[in-house]
Amino acid sequence: MIYLDNHATTRCDPRVVEAMVPWLSEDFGNPSSGSHEMGRTAAAAIQQSVAKIAAALNVPADSVIFTSGATESNNLAIRGVCLHPRQKKRHFVTVTSEHHAVLDVSDELRREGFRVTEVPVIAQAEGATGVVDLNRLADAIDDDTALVSVMWANNEIGSIAPMRDVADLCHARSVLLHSDATQAVGRIPVDVLAADVDLLSAAAHKFYGPKGTGLLVVGNGNRRVRLRPQIVGGGQQQGLRSGTLNTAGIIAMATALELAVDEMESHHDRIGQMRNQLFQLLSSGIDGIKLNGISLDSNQRLSGNLNLQLEAIEGEAWMAATPSVAFSSGSACSSVDAKPSHVLTAIGLNESEARRSVRFGIGRFNTDQEIQQAAEWLIESHRKLCRLS
Ligand SMILES: Cc1ncc(COP(=O)(O)O)c(C=O)c1O
Repeated sequence: MIYLDNHATTRCDPRVVEAMVPWLSEDFGNPSSGSHEMGRTAAAAIQQSVAKIAAALNVPADSVIFTSGATESNNLAIRGVCLHPRQKKRHFVTVTSEHHAVLDVSDELRREGFRVTEVPVIAQAEGATGVVDLNRLADAIDDDTALVSVMWANNEIGSIAPMRDVADLCHARSVLLHSDATQAVGRIPVDVLAADVDLLSAAAHKFYGPKGTGLLVVGNGNRRVRLRPQIVGGGQQQGLRSGTLNTAGIIAMATALELAVDEMESHHDRIGQMRNQLFQLLSSGIDGIKLNGISLDSNQRLSGNLNLQLEAIEGEAWMAATPSVAFSSGSACSSVDAKPSHVLTAIGLNESEARRSVRFGIGRFNTDQEIQQAAEWLIESHRKLCRLS
C-alpha cells in the first residue's frame, strides 16, 4: 500500500511514539494529582510541552488549551466566543471552503438565532484560486459581528490564506479572528502573533503526531478573548476545557511539532518535488488531466497538495480500481457524505467536475520510488477504466 493521503492523517513519527510511550506505561500519574510525585512529574512534563508548543507558535504559554482534536478546538473557539454570556453581538462570518468542523458549527449557530455569513473564495477561473475574497470579507463584517473564522490552509486544494491581511481587516472593525490552522501547523511557518490571529485550532495527527490530540490557542497577547467553556467538569485548563489531561498525547504533540518546525524547510522542498513529479507522471500518462486550485509553483499552495480532475472517470471509480494507493476524493472527514466536495464547488467546479476530482497528499515518509510506482498503478487502472467505459 502506498499512502498518499497525508491531508487526512499522517503516520505517527517513530520518534514521537518513542517520546510518548513512557507516559503511558511508567510515568502514568494524573497531572492533576498534585499530592504525589507521579502527578507532579506528569504536570511538569506537560508544562515543558506547553512551553515548546508556545515557542513553536509564538504565543503566550497560558494561551494553549488542549483538546481532543481540531473539531473540538473549532467548536470551542466559535461557540465559546459567540455564546459567551457577555457576548452582545449576534453575527458570525466564515468562508464557503471551510472544513465541516467550522461549517456545521455555523449551522448550529444559525439554529440558535445567529446570523451567519459565508464569504466566497476566489474561483478557479479568476486566478488566486480558493483563497478567501478579501473585498467580500470586508463587506461581510458589520457592527454586529462577534467573530470571523478563516482557515489558514485548505484541506482539499491546499490554498493558503493571507492571514495577516485577514487579521488586519477584522481588527480594524474590532472583531476577533479564529483560524482553523489544522493543515498549516507543522507544514508551513505559523507565527500566531505575527499573523495576529486571536484563536487558532490544530491537531497533532496532521503533523506526524497521534490522533485524538489537539489544541486551541486562546489569545495571542494582543487582545482579550472571552470564551464560554463547552466541556465542564473538573475545572482543568483554567476551567476552559475540563477533563484529565492526555499526558502522553500532549507530550507527543509537542515532540511532533518541535520536529516539524526543525525539519520544515527540508521536508517542504522534498515533498514539493515529489508532488510535482507525481503531477508530471500522471499528466503525461493520462489525457486531459487538469489541476484544481492554484498553480503548483505558487507559494499560496501547500507543497504536498495535489488535487486533480479527470476528463471522463469519476474519482470514486479510480480509487476503487487502484486499491494499492491510498488517496481520496475529498475530505476524509466527510467521505461518508455522498455529495461532491463543497470546496471544489466553492471554487467554481460543477458537480460532474467535482465528482471527477481526486486529492493526493504527499508527506514526509513518501519516497521517489513510491511516487514512481503509484503513478504506474494509477495510469494503469485509469487505462482499464477507460477501456471498460
Ligand atoms: C482543515 C481541517 N479542520 C478540521 C479537521 C478536523 O480534525 P480532527 O478530525 O482532528 O478533529 C480537519 C481534518 O481533516 C481538517 O483538515
